[in-house]
Amino acid sequence: MSFLRLNIRQKIILGLIIMCLANGGIALISYNALVTMREKIGVVEFADDLSNTILEIRRSEKNYLLFNSEENLADNRSYIDAALKMLEQAPTSITDNSVIGMLNQINISLRSYRERIEELAALGYNGNDADEVVTQIRTIGKSLIEESKLLATLERQQIISITDQLRKNIFSSAVFLILLAVGLFLFVTFKILLPLNMIEQTTAHIAEGNFEPLPVWNTRDEIQSLMEAFNRMVKELESRQDQLVQAQKLSSIGTLASGIAHQLNNPLNNISTSCQIVLEENEQILPFSKKMLTNIEQETIRARDIVRGLLEFSRNQEFFLQPVQLREVIDRALKLVSSQIPAGIELDVDVPLDITLDLDIHRMSETLINLLINAIQAMDGQGSIRIYIGPPSSPTCVCLIVEDTGPGIPEENLSRIFDPFYTTKGVSVGTGLGLYIVYGIVKKHHGDIRAESTPGEGTRFIISLPLSATHVCKKQQRS
Ligand SMILES: Nc1ncnc2c1ncn2[C@@H]1O[C@H](COP(=O)(O)OP(=O)(O)OP(=O)(O)O)[C@@H](O)[C@H]1O
Ligand SMILES: [Mg+2]
Repeated sequence: MSFLRLNIRQKIILGLIIMCLANGGIALISYNALVTMREKIGVVEFADDLSNTILEIRRSEKNYLLFNSEENLADNRSYIDAALKMLEQAPTSITDNSVIGMLNQINISLRSYRERIEELAALGYNGNDADEVVTQIRTIGKSLIEESKLLATLERQQIISITDQLRKNIFSSAVFLILLAVGLFLFVTFKILLPLNMIEQTTAHIAEGNFEPLPVWNTRDEIQSLMEAFNRMVKELESRQDQLVQAQKLSSIGTLASGIAHQLNNPLNNISTSCQIVLEENEQILPFSKKMLTNIEQETIRARDIVRGLLEFSRNQEFFLQPVQLREVIDRALKLVSSQIPAGIELDVDVPLDITLDLDIHRMSETLINLLINAIQAMDGQGSIRIYIGPPSSPTCVCLIVEDTGPGIPEENLSRIFDPFYTTKGVSVGTGLGLYIVYGIVKKHHGDIRAESTPGEGTRFIISLPLSATHVCKKQQRS
């Protein structure tokens, strides 16, 4: 279980360590077996030499018993000495107790054999009269040959068994290493290469405009974190794409609307001026006609304001940014709407005095007035409005929040409230341009605005504005 909690790097390192240890272990075991085998081969060579010398002893013994010559006896003695010397100089590497026991046995037999030979020589052997000693010599000589052959055979058998064991070890370790390598290969393929391949394919889909998130595997490792981070990025990209589409839509509608507004401005001015002239110059005018003309003038002024609002949105040259205290802008906007705030609506402003931003004071006041009037109109005389600073989305931003406890905005309408002419208010109450203009003003300040709403509980407009460069410097110095 704890193995599963290791991250990918640790798992790969663990796999490689196991592989190295297994390799090292196998190499050590094989080395040890080869050293033992080398010793055994030395013992076999020694046993073969000893066996050949014993054969020479037996050959010279046979000749001595056959021809009874001093020369053969001397040969026999010298071979016995040679064999005893060999036993004395037996390889020191022989540590096997059974081998040492067998060598001791050969030594004893050899010495007893020499005694019998000397006994026979002392008797002055001439081919007769020493049958018992001769029989003993032959019996001991025979056993000497068997013992030396047995020694060589035993050692050879041990070499064969070591070779078999070594073969088995090498085979099983090769199987183990192959399995480990296959395991590592599968791990790298399924845990790293496959997810990376999926990310690559999803990136290609994103490039085609398909913002489908990756399926997240619950592997609790870096790949899971990577996939989650990737999906967050996909979500963010999708929302940015929506914002871009929205911004493009607003921009093209804005261009169209400002063109129409420009065209309408002059005729509306003419109508308004004409009405005023008729009202001022014609004193005998009928009360009904006067009322109608006043209506025409007021509606024309309203239409002209709408047109001005549209023009305002598209006009660039009058926009002027300067360092202004945010609180000052808020106070200014509140002063202008204060007469419209019903007694049942509570107002709470919690914005510190030390926030200075680069703002166009008139436009930003207009923004706040629009938001405040919307909130007042939505709440129907009862509720509260809060203006406060929220947590910023980045250290170089200020987040101004205007929040009300009105009826809220249904989710399906949230994406449309910044569209021009979108209104839920009666024709004579709203034009649907308020938030459209607000959006444009905030964007001109290089800021961002979005709305959050819970139907039945209220609406929150979140305006993110960049801090002025001097303010950022001061903030950094303080921290
Ligand atoms: N605080 C709010 N609470 C509830 N709904 C709101 C709020 N602010 C805006 N809305 C909704 O968004 C719509 C668009 O607002 P917007 O300010 O653009 O136009 P309007 O207020 O209808 O008209 P105008 O501002 O031109 O007089 C409103 O009609 C209303 O439905
Ligand atoms: Mg409005």
